[in-house]
Amino acid sequence: MKLLVCGGAGFIGSTFARQRLLEHGDEVTVLDKLTYAGREENLRDVAGRDGYSFLRGAIEEPEAVAAAIAAGRPEAIVNFAAETHVDRSIAEPDAFVRTHALGTYVLLEAAREHGLAYLQVSTDEVYGSIELGTFTEESPLRPSSPYSATKTGADLLVQSYFHTYGLPATICRGSNNYGPYQYPEKLIPLMILNALHGDPLPVYGDGMQVRNWIHASDFARAIGHVLEHGRHGEVYNAGGPDEEANIEVVRRIIELTGASESLIEHVADRPGHDRRYSLSSEKVRALGWEPRVRFQEGLEETVRWYRENRWWWEPIRSGEYREYYARQYGRALQG
Ligand code: NAD
Ligand code: TYD
Repeated sequence: MKLLVCGGAGFIGSTFARQRLLEHGDEVTVLDKLTYAGREENLRDVAGRDGYSFLRGAIEEPEAVAAAIAAGRPEAIVNFAAETHVDRSIAEPDAFVRTHALGTYVLLEAAREHGLAYLQVSTDEVYGSIELGTFTEESPLRPSSPYSATKTGADLLVQSYFHTYGLPATICRGSNNYGPYQYPEKLIPLMILNALHGDPLPVYGDGMQVRNWIHASDFARAIGHVLEHGRHGEVYNAGGPDEEANIEVVRRIIELTGASESLIEHVADRPGHDRRYSLSSEKVRALGWEPRVRFQEGLEETVRWYRENRWWWEPIRSGEYREYYARQYGRALQG
């Protein structure tokens, strides 16, 4: 296939682009704004390869999208491009509204104009929090944060383009991802790097919030599966095989890094914090997909990757991330 992968320089988008290039022989054009979270280095192992090209541009800019379509002549758009951190959406929601609402709209219009298939990458957070049981694709949408609310808006717009214009669109909603190349603002890489440096491990509230962890390679394969076999107009959930309370995740990381338990610091909870996410993936499993990586094994591999790839995270830790970290955690960690 020939794909336009928007947001392909980010964590999951680069995992997907690499998978499609190397394992499926697809042609991949990446369009990415290169925000603080996007880095061309995430795809340095495929740079220069036949069938891969990169363009810098924002999805909310019609000219950038038109240029990417003219360059790559894709059959389908796969949209990963997003602002993805809940804490940043609480502090500064502006870019979330712009990218998720306006950006998705511009991509949908381009898909309509050029007769392209469209896949929207979405999240379990659109369903809100669930104390018991699991969310299915039929569960009501009850997003809690500006991140999840704007992702929900984007999903609804995608569905409206299917219903109104017959756009061949699908949506794939993933649970919490982890693995190599994840920006260290997120729980797992943040805790790994802090543990390796002997820095405090800031656990929000009691740490008993539960997340359903999926390895990014499994989520990327689920997205490929939906692209190839999904029914247009449908939503497919892709959850990981294991659920874990945050405090247990942190304890596992402490064990794998040899850090001290005394680094754990319970800090003020996130406002509006969702207590538990849990996703039923039966519908995408019926298409022949299943997750391959169990959490403990994936976490061990991820810790190893961060240990062995300082080239990747050292420039991040000394750049914009430092200021973000000071703003987000400075006061809390000073007690
Ligand atoms: P990420 O923050 O690592 O990457 C996002 C990428 O999008 C970056 O490369 C960034 O430069 C790019 N981008 C941001 N705004 C853009 C714009 N306006 N135009 C073009 N590019 C832009 O995020 P990720 O974790 O890889 O998430 C990718 C997608 O998967 C998102 O849509 C996210 O909502 C979804 N998702 C993520 C998770 C998770 O746990 N990380 C779980 C489920 C779904
Ligand atoms: P995060 O990685 O931000 O993903 P999401 O909010 O999309 O689930 O957070 C995962 C969980 O970890 C969430 O319950 C918030 C918690 N958390 C902490 O306790 N401390 C932290 O420093 C971070 C970043 C997250």
